Amino acid sequence: MNLKLLICALACLVHYSTADNVGRDIKISGGTPASLGDLPYQVFVGYNLGNGTYEFCGGGLINSEWILTAAHCFEVKKDVSKAFVILGSVSLNTRPVSVKTIITHPNYISDAYNYYDIALLQLSNPVKESASIGFLNLPTFSSPAVGTLMWTAGWGLTQSGIKPTQLLKVQIPIVAQSICVNAFSDGKYNETYFLCIGDGKGKDTCQGDSGGAVVSKVNTTDTRWTVYGITSYGPEGCGLQGNRGAYSRVFNYLDFIKSNAVTSASSTPHHCSKALIVVLIAFALLLNL
Ligand SMILES: *[C@@H]1O[C@H](CO)[C@@H](O)[C@H](O)[C@H]1NC(C)=O
Ligand SMILES: *[C@@H]1O[C@H](CO)[C@@H](O)[C@H](O)[C@H]1NC(C)=O
Ligand SMILES: *[C@@H]1O[C@H](CO)[C@@H](O)[C@H](O)[C@H]1NC(C)=O
Repeated sequence: MNLKLLICALACLVHYSTADNVGRDIKISGGTPASLGDLPYQVFVGYNLGNGTYEFCGGGLINSEWILTAAHCFEVKKDVSKAFVILGSVSLNTRPVSVKTIITHPNYISDAYNYYDIALLQLSNPVKESASIGFLNLPTFSSPAVGTLMWTAGWGLTQSGIKPTQLLKVQIPIVAQSICVNAFSDGKYNETYFLCIGDGKGKDTCQGDSGGAVVSKVNTTDTRWTVYGITSYGPEGCGLQGNRGAYSRVFNYLDFIKSNAVTSASSTPHHCSKALIVVLIAFALLLNL
Protein backbone atom coordinates (compact mmCIF):
# COMPACT_ATOMS: atom_id res chain seq x y z
CA MET A 1 0.00 0.00 0.00
CA ASN A 2 2.71 2.33 0.97
CA LEU A 3 4.44 1.39 -2.18
CA LYS A 4 1.62 2.62 -4.25
CA LEU A 5 1.53 5.86 -2.40
CA LEU A 6 5.21 6.17 -2.71
CA ILE A 7 4.90 5.61 -6.36
CA CYS A 8 2.25 8.19 -6.10
CA ALA A 9 4.62 10.68 -4.75
CA LEU A 10 6.99 10.03 -7.59
CA ALA A 11 4.36 10.54 -10.13
CA CYS A 12 3.31 13.74 -8.54
CA LEU A 13 6.38 15.56 -9.55
CA VAL A 14 5.75 14.61 -13.04
CA HIS A 15 3.39 15.63 -15.70
CA TYR A 16 0.69 13.39 -14.42
CA SER A 17 -1.03 16.27 -12.74
CA THR A 18 -0.55 18.80 -15.49
CA ALA A 19 -1.81 16.45 -18.15
CA ASP A 20 -4.83 15.32 -16.25
CA ASN A 21 -5.70 18.43 -14.37
CA VAL A 22 -5.94 16.17 -11.42
CA GLY A 23 -3.94 17.29 -8.45
CA ARG A 24 -2.87 14.10 -6.83
CA ASP A 25 -1.53 14.02 -3.34
CA ILE A 26 2.22 14.10 -3.29
CA LYS A 27 2.75 12.58 0.11
CA ILE A 28 4.35 9.18 0.23
CA SER A 29 2.67 6.90 2.65
CA GLY A 30 5.06 4.02 2.34
CA GLY A 31 6.30 1.28 0.06
CA THR A 32 8.60 -1.59 -0.59
CA PRO A 33 12.02 -0.64 -1.89
CA ALA A 34 12.94 -2.45 -5.08
CA SER A 35 16.29 -4.19 -5.22
CA LEU A 36 18.58 -3.86 -8.18
CA GLY A 37 17.48 -6.35 -10.82
CA ASP A 38 13.97 -6.89 -9.40
CA LEU A 39 12.32 -4.98 -12.24
CA PRO A 40 15.33 -4.40 -14.49
CA TYR A 41 13.32 -2.84 -17.32
CA GLN A 42 12.40 0.13 -15.10
CA VAL A 43 13.97 3.42 -16.15
CA PHE A 44 13.82 6.95 -14.83
CA VAL A 45 12.75 9.43 -17.48
CA GLY A 46 13.72 13.02 -16.70
CA TYR A 47 13.21 16.32 -18.45
CA ASN A 48 15.39 19.29 -17.58
CA LEU A 49 13.47 22.49 -17.12
CA GLY A 50 16.63 24.51 -17.60
CA ASN A 51 16.71 26.17 -14.18
CA GLY A 52 18.31 23.37 -12.24
CA THR A 53 15.06 21.48 -11.81
CA TYR A 54 13.54 18.65 -13.75
CA GLU A 55 10.29 16.78 -14.09
CA PHE A 56 10.16 13.05 -14.36
CA CYS A 57 8.21 9.96 -15.25
CA GLY A 58 8.89 6.27 -15.26
CA GLY A 59 9.43 4.13 -18.32
CA GLY A 60 10.11 0.58 -19.41
CA LEU A 61 12.85 -0.66 -21.72
CA ILE A 62 11.43 -2.85 -24.50
CA ASN A 63 14.61 -3.49 -26.45
CA SER A 64 18.17 -2.21 -26.74
CA GLU A 65 17.07 1.28 -27.79
CA TRP A 66 13.44 1.95 -27.00
CA ILE A 67 11.57 2.92 -23.86
CA LEU A 68 7.83 2.74 -23.44
CA THR A 69 6.32 5.59 -21.43
CA ALA A 70 3.20 7.78 -21.29
CA ALA A 71 2.38 10.46 -23.87
CA HIS A 72 1.28 12.91 -21.19
CA CYS A 73 4.87 12.98 -19.95
CA PHE A 74 5.85 14.62 -23.21
CA GLU A 75 2.79 16.44 -24.37
CA VAL A 76 4.53 19.78 -24.63
CA LYS A 77 8.02 18.76 -23.69
CA LYS A 78 9.49 17.38 -26.84
CA ASP A 79 12.98 18.84 -26.86
CA VAL A 80 15.13 15.70 -26.93
CA SER A 81 18.16 17.60 -25.74
CA LYS A 82 16.38 18.17 -22.42
CA ALA A 83 15.27 14.59 -21.94
CA PHE A 84 17.42 12.06 -20.13
CA VAL A 85 17.12 8.51 -18.91
CA ILE A 86 18.67 6.59 -16.03
CA LEU A 87 18.86 2.84 -16.58
CA GLY A 88 19.68 -0.07 -14.32
CA SER A 89 19.53 1.82 -11.06
CA VAL A 90 17.14 1.84 -8.13
CA SER A 91 18.80 4.73 -6.35
CA LEU A 92 19.48 6.91 -9.41
CA ASN A 93 23.19 6.97 -8.75
CA THR A 94 24.26 6.04 -12.23
CA ARG A 95 24.97 8.40 -15.07
CA PRO A 96 22.01 9.68 -17.08
CA VAL A 97 22.06 8.84 -20.77
CA SER A 98 20.72 10.90 -23.65
CA VAL A 99 17.67 10.43 -25.81
CA LYS A 100 17.58 10.96 -29.56
CA THR A 101 13.91 10.55 -30.43
CA ILE A 102 10.60 11.22 -28.66
CA ILE A 103 7.50 9.76 -30.34
CA THR A 104 4.14 10.43 -28.71
CA HIS A 105 1.14 8.59 -30.12
CA PRO A 106 -0.23 10.77 -32.96
CA ASN A 107 -3.80 10.40 -31.66
CA TYR A 108 -3.00 11.51 -28.16
CA ILE A 109 -4.86 14.68 -27.22
CA SER A 110 -4.03 16.06 -23.82
CA ASP A 111 -6.81 17.06 -21.49
CA ALA A 112 -9.35 15.29 -23.65
CA TYR A 113 -9.84 11.66 -22.81
CA ASN A 114 -6.27 10.60 -22.10
CA TYR A 115 -6.74 7.97 -24.78
CA TYR A 116 -3.57 6.94 -26.65
CA ASP A 117 -1.51 7.88 -23.59
CA ILE A 118 1.60 6.15 -24.85
CA ALA A 119 4.98 7.33 -26.09
CA LEU A 120 8.33 5.92 -27.13
CA LEU A 121 11.79 7.27 -26.39
CA GLN A 122 14.83 6.17 -28.32
CA LEU A 123 18.16 6.08 -26.51
CA SER A 124 21.06 7.76 -28.29
CA ASN A 125 23.15 4.65 -27.71
CA PRO A 126 21.86 1.08 -27.52
CA VAL A 127 22.21 -0.81 -24.25
CA LYS A 128 22.70 -4.48 -23.51
CA GLU A 129 20.84 -6.63 -21.02
CA SER A 130 22.71 -7.30 -17.79
CA ALA A 131 21.95 -8.17 -14.19
CA SER A 132 20.51 -4.69 -13.66
CA ILE A 133 19.15 -3.85 -17.13
CA GLY A 134 16.47 -5.97 -18.80
CA PHE A 135 13.93 -5.75 -21.60
CA LEU A 136 10.17 -6.11 -21.37
CA ASN A 137 8.18 -8.52 -23.47
CA LEU A 138 5.20 -7.12 -25.34
CA PRO A 139 1.88 -8.78 -24.52
CA THR A 140 0.39 -11.54 -26.65
CA PHE A 141 -3.04 -11.05 -25.12
CA SER A 142 -4.95 -8.01 -23.94
CA SER A 143 -5.04 -8.50 -20.20
CA PRO A 144 -4.36 -11.03 -17.49
CA ALA A 145 -7.51 -12.22 -15.75
CA VAL A 146 -9.30 -10.12 -13.16
CA GLY A 147 -7.62 -10.70 -9.82
CA THR A 148 -4.15 -11.18 -11.25
CA LEU A 149 -1.56 -9.28 -9.22
CA MET A 150 0.64 -7.02 -11.33
CA TRP A 151 3.88 -5.30 -10.38
CA THR A 152 4.61 -1.66 -10.98
CA ALA A 153 7.19 0.73 -9.59
CA GLY A 154 8.26 4.33 -9.38
CA TRP A 155 10.53 6.82 -7.64
CA GLY A 156 8.74 8.74 -4.94
CA LEU A 157 9.03 12.16 -3.52
CA THR A 158 7.99 13.30 -0.14
CA GLN A 159 7.26 16.72 -1.48
CA SER A 160 7.68 18.73 -4.61
CA GLY A 161 11.25 19.74 -5.25
CA ILE A 162 12.84 16.99 -3.22
CA LYS A 163 14.84 14.65 -5.35
CA PRO A 164 13.61 11.09 -5.68
CA THR A 165 16.05 8.60 -4.24
CA GLN A 166 14.70 5.07 -4.09
CA LEU A 167 12.64 2.98 -6.49
CA LEU A 168 9.56 1.56 -4.79
CA LYS A 169 7.52 -1.30 -6.09
CA VAL A 170 3.94 -2.32 -5.45
CA GLN A 171 1.64 -5.18 -6.42
CA ILE A 172 -1.83 -4.24 -7.57
CA PRO A 173 -4.62 -6.39 -9.01
CA ILE A 174 -6.41 -6.19 -12.33
CA VAL A 175 -10.04 -5.42 -11.50
CA ALA A 176 -13.27 -5.40 -13.48
CA GLN A 177 -13.67 -2.63 -16.05
CA SER A 178 -16.99 -1.66 -14.50
CA ILE A 179 -15.15 -0.53 -11.38
CA CYS A 180 -13.28 2.16 -13.33
CA VAL A 181 -16.32 3.07 -15.41
CA ASN A 182 -18.07 3.81 -12.12
CA ALA A 183 -15.03 5.31 -10.38
CA PHE A 184 -14.33 7.81 -13.15
CA SER A 185 -17.74 9.33 -13.28
CA ASP A 186 -16.84 11.75 -16.07
CA GLY A 187 -17.76 9.00 -18.51
CA LYS A 188 -14.36 9.09 -20.20
CA TYR A 189 -12.99 5.78 -19.02
CA ASN A 190 -13.02 3.36 -21.95
CA GLU A 191 -11.74 -0.18 -21.70
CA THR A 192 -10.47 -0.15 -25.28
CA TYR A 193 -7.71 2.19 -24.14
CA PHE A 194 -7.20 1.27 -20.50
CA LEU A 195 -6.88 -1.45 -17.94
CA CYS A 196 -8.48 -0.85 -14.55
CA ILE A 197 -6.03 -1.71 -11.79
CA GLY A 198 -5.94 -1.20 -8.04
CA ASP A 199 -6.94 -2.87 -4.82
CA GLY A 200 -8.87 0.14 -3.56
CA LYS A 201 -7.16 -0.30 -0.21
CA GLY A 202 -4.23 2.04 -0.49
CA LYS A 203 -1.93 0.43 -2.98
CA ASP A 204 -1.70 2.94 -5.73
CA THR A 205 0.46 4.74 -8.21
CA CYS A 206 0.59 8.51 -8.38
CA GLN A 207 1.73 11.35 -10.61
CA GLY A 208 5.46 10.69 -10.49
CA ASP A 209 4.87 7.12 -11.51
CA SER A 210 3.34 8.03 -14.83
CA GLY A 211 4.76 6.16 -17.74
CA GLY A 212 5.86 3.23 -15.59
CA ALA A 213 5.15 -0.28 -16.83
CA VAL A 214 2.61 -2.56 -15.18
CA VAL A 215 3.93 -6.07 -15.57
CA SER A 216 3.44 -9.71 -14.82
CA LYS A 217 4.81 -13.07 -15.86
CA VAL A 218 1.34 -14.54 -16.29
CA ASN A 219 1.20 -17.30 -18.85
CA THR A 220 4.82 -17.04 -19.75
CA THR A 221 7.83 -19.05 -18.75
CA ASP A 222 10.06 -16.29 -20.02
CA THR A 223 12.39 -14.77 -17.47
CA ARG A 224 11.47 -11.34 -18.79
CA TRP A 225 8.47 -9.43 -17.53
CA THR A 226 5.57 -8.73 -19.88
CA VAL A 227 4.11 -5.21 -19.96
CA TYR A 228 0.32 -4.97 -20.03
CA GLY A 229 -0.23 -1.44 -18.79
CA ILE A 230 1.37 1.99 -18.58
CA THR A 231 0.54 4.24 -15.64
CA SER A 232 -1.75 6.93 -17.05
CA TYR A 233 -4.19 8.63 -14.73
CA GLY A 234 -6.13 8.27 -11.54
CA PRO A 235 -8.47 10.02 -9.17
CA GLU A 236 -7.46 12.96 -7.05
CA GLY A 237 -5.38 11.85 -4.10
CA CYS A 238 -3.26 8.77 -4.51
CA GLY A 239 -3.69 5.64 -2.46
CA LEU A 240 -6.98 6.70 -0.98
CA GLN A 241 -9.60 4.17 -0.03
CA GLY A 242 -11.48 2.98 -3.08
CA ASN A 243 -8.99 4.41 -5.57
CA ARG A 244 -8.32 2.63 -8.84
CA GLY A 245 -6.12 3.76 -11.66
CA ALA A 246 -6.40 3.82 -15.44
CA TYR A 247 -3.42 2.23 -17.18
CA SER A 248 -2.93 2.44 -20.94
CA ARG A 249 -3.75 -0.97 -22.39
CA VAL A 250 -0.51 -1.80 -24.16
CA PHE A 251 -2.05 -4.56 -26.28
CA ASN A 252 -4.21 -1.93 -28.00
CA TYR A 253 -1.07 -0.12 -29.15
CA LEU A 254 1.07 -2.94 -30.49
CA ASP A 255 0.98 -1.55 -34.03
CA PHE A 256 2.22 1.83 -32.83
CA ILE A 257 4.96 0.20 -30.77
CA LYS A 258 6.12 -2.30 -33.38
CA SER A 259 6.15 0.18 -36.23
CA ASN A 260 8.19 2.74 -34.30
CA ALA A 261 10.36 0.91 -31.81
CA VAL A 262 12.61 -0.55 -34.44
CA THR A 263 16.21 -0.92 -33.42
CA SER A 264 18.83 0.43 -35.73
CA ALA A 265 20.74 -2.04 -37.82
CA SER A 266 23.84 -1.82 -35.66
CA SER A 267 23.75 -5.37 -34.36
CA THR A 268 22.78 -7.01 -37.65
CA PRO A 269 25.48 -5.33 -39.71
CA HIS A 270 27.89 -6.21 -36.97
CA HIS A 271 27.11 -9.90 -37.35
CA CYS A 272 27.05 -9.56 -41.12
CA SER A 273 30.46 -8.00 -41.17
CA LYS A 274 31.76 -10.74 -38.91
CA ALA A 275 30.36 -13.35 -41.27
CA LEU A 276 31.80 -11.46 -44.18
CA ILE A 277 35.22 -11.46 -42.59
CA VAL A 278 35.02 -15.21 -42.06
CA VAL A 279 34.07 -15.69 -45.71
CA LEU A 280 36.89 -13.45 -46.86
CA ILE A 281 39.41 -15.30 -44.74
CA ALA A 282 38.14 -18.62 -46.09
CA PHE A 283 38.50 -17.24 -49.58
CA ALA A 284 42.00 -16.05 -48.92
CA LEU A 285 42.92 -19.47 -47.61
CA LEU A 286 41.40 -21.12 -50.66
CA LEU A 287 43.30 -18.82 -52.98
CA ASN A 288 46.52 -19.58 -51.17
CA LEU A 289 45.84 -23.23 -51.64
C1 LIG B 1 11.83 26.11 -13.11
O1 LIG B 1 11.12 26.23 -14.31
C2 LIG B 1 9.81 25.70 -14.25
C3 LIG B 1 9.21 25.74 -15.64
O2 LIG B 1 9.40 26.97 -16.21
C4 LIG B 1 9.01 26.42 -13.20
O3 LIG B 1 7.71 25.89 -13.15
C5 LIG B 1 9.69 26.25 -11.86
O4 LIG B 1 8.99 26.99 -10.87
C6 LIG B 1 11.12 26.73 -11.92
N1 LIG B 1 11.77 26.38 -10.68
C7 LIG B 1 12.67 27.18 -10.12
C8 LIG B 1 13.27 26.68 -8.82
O5 LIG B 1 13.00 28.24 -10.60
C1 LIG C 1 -3.63 -17.77 -19.21
O1 LIG C 1 -3.96 -18.26 -20.50
C2 LIG C 1 -5.17 -18.99 -20.54
C3 LIG C 1 -5.31 -19.56 -21.94
O2 LIG C 1 -4.97 -18.61 -22.90
C4 LIG C 1 -6.32 -18.08 -20.15
O3 LIG C 1 -7.54 -18.77 -20.20
C5 LIG C 1 -6.09 -17.57 -18.74
O4 LIG C 1 -7.09 -16.66 -18.38
C6 LIG C 1 -4.73 -16.91 -18.64
N1 LIG C 1 -4.47 -16.58 -17.27
C7 LIG C 1 -4.48 -15.34 -16.84
C8 LIG C 1 -4.22 -15.17 -15.40
O5 LIG C 1 -4.66 -14.38 -17.56
C1 LIG D 1 -14.72 3.00 -26.46
O1 LIG D 1 -13.92 3.23 -27.58
C2 LIG D 1 -14.23 2.41 -28.69
C3 LIG D 1 -13.17 2.62 -29.75
O2 LIG D 1 -13.02 3.97 -30.04
C4 LIG D 1 -15.63 2.73 -29.16
O3 LIG D 1 -15.97 1.90 -30.26
C5 LIG D 1 -16.62 2.48 -28.02
O4 LIG D 1 -17.89 2.88 -28.39
C6 LIG D 1 -16.18 3.26 -26.77
N1 LIG D 1 -17.00 2.83 -25.67
C7 LIG D 1 -17.63 3.69 -24.90
C8 LIG D 1 -18.42 3.10 -23.78
O5 LIG D 1 -17.59 4.90 -25.10
